[in-house]
Amino acid sequence: MSEITNEIKKRRTFAIISHPDAGKTTLTEKFLLYGGAINHAGSVKGKATAKHAVSDWMEIEKERGISVTSSVLQFHYGGYCINILDTPGHQDFSEDTYRTLMAADSAVMVIDASKGVEAQTRKLFKVCVMRHIPIFTFINKMDREAKDTFDLLDDIEKELGIATCPMNWPIGSGKEFKGVYDRQKKEVELFSDTHKGTSVGEVKKLDANNPELDWILDTQARVTLEEEIELLDGAAAEFDQELVSQGELSPVFFGSALTNFGVETFLKHFLAMTSSPLPRMSDQGEIDPMTEKDFSAFVFKIQANMNKAHRDRIAFMRICSGMFEAGMPVYHIQGGKDVRLSQPQQMMASERKMIETAYGGDIIGVFDPGIFSIGDTLTTSKDKFTYEGIPTFAPEHFARVRQVDTMKRKQFVKGINQIAQEGAIQIFQEYNTGMEEIIVGVVGVLQFDVLKYRLQNEYNVEIKLENLPYEHIRWIENKEINLDKLVGTSDMKKIKDLKDRPLLLFAHEWSIRMTLDRNKDLKLSEFGQS
Ligand code: G4P
Repeated sequence: MSEITNEIKKRRTFAIISHPDAGKTTLTEKFLLYGGAINHAGSVKGKATAKHAVSDWMEIEKERGISVTSSVLQFHYGGYCINILDTPGHQDFSEDTYRTLMAADSAVMVIDASKGVEAQTRKLFKVCVMRHIPIFTFINKMDREAKDTFDLLDDIEKELGIATCPMNWPIGSGKEFKGVYDRQKKEVELFSDTHKGTSVGEVKKLDANNPELDWILDTQARVTLEEEIELLDGAAAEFDQELVSQGELSPVFFGSALTNFGVETFLKHFLAMTSSPLPRMSDQGEIDPMTEKDFSAFVFKIQANMNKAHRDRIAFMRICSGMFEAGMPVYHIQGGKDVRLSQPQQMMASERKMIETAYGGDIIGVFDPGIFSIGDTLTTSKDKFTYEGIPTFAPEHFARVRQVDTMKRKQFVKGINQIAQEGAIQIFQEYNTGMEEIIVGVVGVLQFDVLKYRLQNEYNVEIKLENLPYEHIRWIENKEINLDKLVGTSDMKKIKDLKDRPLLLFAHEWSIRMTLDRNKDLKLSEFGQS
């Protein structure tokens, strides 16, 4: 096996998803602790340091104390090279989060044991399902009073439509939390406080038949455990690696990230069950990192003005095959020419650092002089293939944008186009009006504030936003449809995107069905392709 293939095989690239506050940051930090990337828990958790240092260009983020941007962390553990794609925790920035999922080979879903599946998880999950990537569940905060374990699993199965397979089983919760039972090894991992989770502690494991357990678990706890395991063995889906790989079965683990309990067990199992970088679809068929020798990558995120003084843009790309070397020329398919990727960088724990080499599975950020768009392909292959585009996620809020000072039209058009190109907003036009009447669509309302702030600060343009009542957007798939003859509803509006593709906006969901009923040939899609 070549050195490059060997390196790629070691890669595990996954996204961590959760509803805000479920414990994503805490779990990530504990992973880093086990990987030796940090030696004391608490250094990443200080939200004011790590996450914000990456994106201190945006005052809104600081003001509101939320994390807007996603970051990528790399560390090593047990012979693996792990890339974690952290995703913004605030629901208002879920479009970026959605895109980040496009760069991952699997997802770890963190669920708060006292809450179960929450809104944010549900949305992100849809994207994972769409991509058929494996999903691993970590049910967190077992040291707090939790919902009934069977109810939690039911919740995941019903809400997310995926089968679950508990790999271990909690014994009690909250003050009565004693540990977890490993179903395969039939042993109990005992809960203990590892210095409030600040260091890697000793974990005590006892065989289920060990009499010592009688000292630790009272009769009631033992009976409950036995009954629950019996019920589980009869009712739950069996572990099936094939189904896990297809994203149809989610292995479930229980623990408490804060106290460091169950984290290493989860990490070990998860790394063994998830896959190395997966093949990706291109216009010339599947590109498999195990057979494709040449470098290839696609851009999944663009971040502007990370350093306000330099007005730079960073394009984040997922390497899909081969090896990357700093300064090497690569062909930019959409631009139609060779480019040198300069200032390649990676996030290591909490700092940005320049890198010399990277391999399939890795995420790198490169300096972007304004030539890249989301979804672009770069490769050194003679075949010049293009990776499948990244879907445009349906915005849920719309507003009409007007310039306050029409003299600044040029800056306005440039600014709004650039911000749209980064994928922070989507812009649309009404039929029969010029660029002065623009409709902006966003996934979360906070993005309107970001748009206003950035146009003002970076382009010196003041805008007024008039909220529109629409909440649903559908791209018209069959282009031959005569728009003038379309029989719509009173709450429907026809618009087009920047590529002149026709779209429909609706205020109510039922109007979509009604419109489809009234126009039998009409085909609508929730996702556009970028
Ligand atoms: P997020 O990234 O998903 O938004 O969640 P984060 O890790 O920031 O955790 C949210 C809160 O939940 C934090 O408390 C964190 O300490 C707590 N937490 C995380 N895992 C566990 C766990 O296993 N058990 C318990 N009991 N709590 C947990 P906070 O008070 O909001 O922040 P802080 O004051 O601790 O920094």
